[in-house]
This record gives sequence, C-alpha cells and structure tokens, in this order.
Amino acid sequence: MERNTCMILALDVTDREEALKIAEDVWEFVDAIKVGYPLVLATGLDIIRELAEFAPIIADFKVADIPNTNRLICDQVFEAGADAIIVQGFTGRDSLDACIEIASEYRKDVFVVSEMSHPGGAEFLQPAAEAIAKIALEAGAFGLVAPATRPERVKKIRKIIGDKLTIISPGVGAQGGKASDVIAAGADWVIVGRSIYKAESPKEAACEIAEEIRAELCGE
Ligand code: C5P
Repeated sequence: MERNTCMILALDVTDREEALKIAEDVWEFVDAIKVGYPLVLATGLDIIRELAEFAPIIADFKVADIPNTNRLICDQVFEAGADAIIVQGFTGRDSLDACIEIASEYRKDVFVVSEMSHPGGAEFLQPAAEAIAKIALEAGAFGLVAPATRPERVKKIRKIIGDKLTIISPGVGAQGGKASDVIAAGADWVIVGRSIYKAESPKEAACEIAEEIRAELCGE
C-alpha cells in the first residue's frame, strides 16, 4: 500500500450508491478505503470490487476464528478483490499464521488489531496489546491496528515493532483522536470514518484532514 496522504477512509455507510459517491468524491485524499461488516452485509461482497476502482481496499472483518475458518474467510475476501484484511491477534499465533499464509499466496497484506480504539478496548485487549504486536512481527504481518484515541499507546507499540511493521490508526474525529497527534506518535496512516462520510461535504472534510497530516509531516 502506497503512503501518500497517510489517510484511510472507513466507509461504514450501508447504501451502495452513497458508498460509491463518497469514494468518488474523496479518493484523491485517501491511500485506501476500509470496508467492513456494515457495508458488506448491506450491499454484498461485490462492493469490494466496485470500490477498488477508486483505491486499494482493506477488508475490516477482524477475523477471529480457528486457523481453518480463518483460512476460508481470507480466501473469500481476497477472491473478492480486497488488497488487505484486518484480523484479530488475540486468537493466537496459529490462527494468525493461517491468515498470513493465505495472504502471501495472493500477495496481499494482513493487518493485526493490537488494541481497539473505543474505551472498552482498554478493558481486555490493551493488556495483551504488546504481546500481540510481538507475534504479529514474528508472523510477518504487514501492519498493526493501534488506537488514535490513545497516541501514547501508538508510541509504545511503535517502540516495540520499530519500522518493521506499519501502523494504521482508527479513532480520529468522531472518537476524539487527532490526526496530526497520531501521525506524530508514529502511525503510518490514520483511519477516518464518520468525520468524513457524515460531513456535509465529505470531500472538504477529507481535504482538511489530509492537509493537517501534510502539515504535521512537513513540520509546519
Ligand atoms: O467513524 P470512525 O472514524 O470512528 O470509524 C473508525 C473505524 O475504524 C470503524 O470502521 C471501526 O470499526 C474501525 N476500528 C476502530 N478501532 C479498531 C479497529 C477498527 O475504530 N481498533
């Protein structure tokens, strides 16, 4: 995945036309579009290939099953045209290995959730986050998902993984995180959903956040 704007759109709308319209409006400000259960359950898996016309697609299914089921899920997602998949790490090394094995067959990427961005993410997952980051590193994942709502955690995770893995970071805007803070803390990409797709002008909202990130990276 190329790093240009350092922003990923979380397209959690449930209407096909709306999804395509937003993608058309904002593609120039994002490096990828993340689709998950809301959009895929509402419109079908074919939406992945339709949206892939605009940007690389990250399928956020937070895959969390036994190795064989994980393998079957990843296979379907990559066949549907996704460029990367988000999986859970708490299910253990064997489940993660199954996802990475299929991804490498397709030459696609796996992102592993180390910690979630909502308040409940600190309850059970945060204490395991550093161990999850380590197994993701050993297993050969492409990146981690770490919370923009807690930039200090992104900094900590970055220290553990060095520059061997990328970090994508959800929680900017609606959940309270600030794009420039989390980029400064070491994230490679921020993930932004509602602040863009619920804005009166998604294009203007995306442009504004992209500009904030650019200014942070240029030290302005
Ligand atoms: O609308 P908002 O910007 O809060 O969207 C954040 C997106 O990132 C949602 O799709 C959410 O499911 C996802 N996500 C998250 N925290 C994680 C992993 C994914 O918020 N740890």
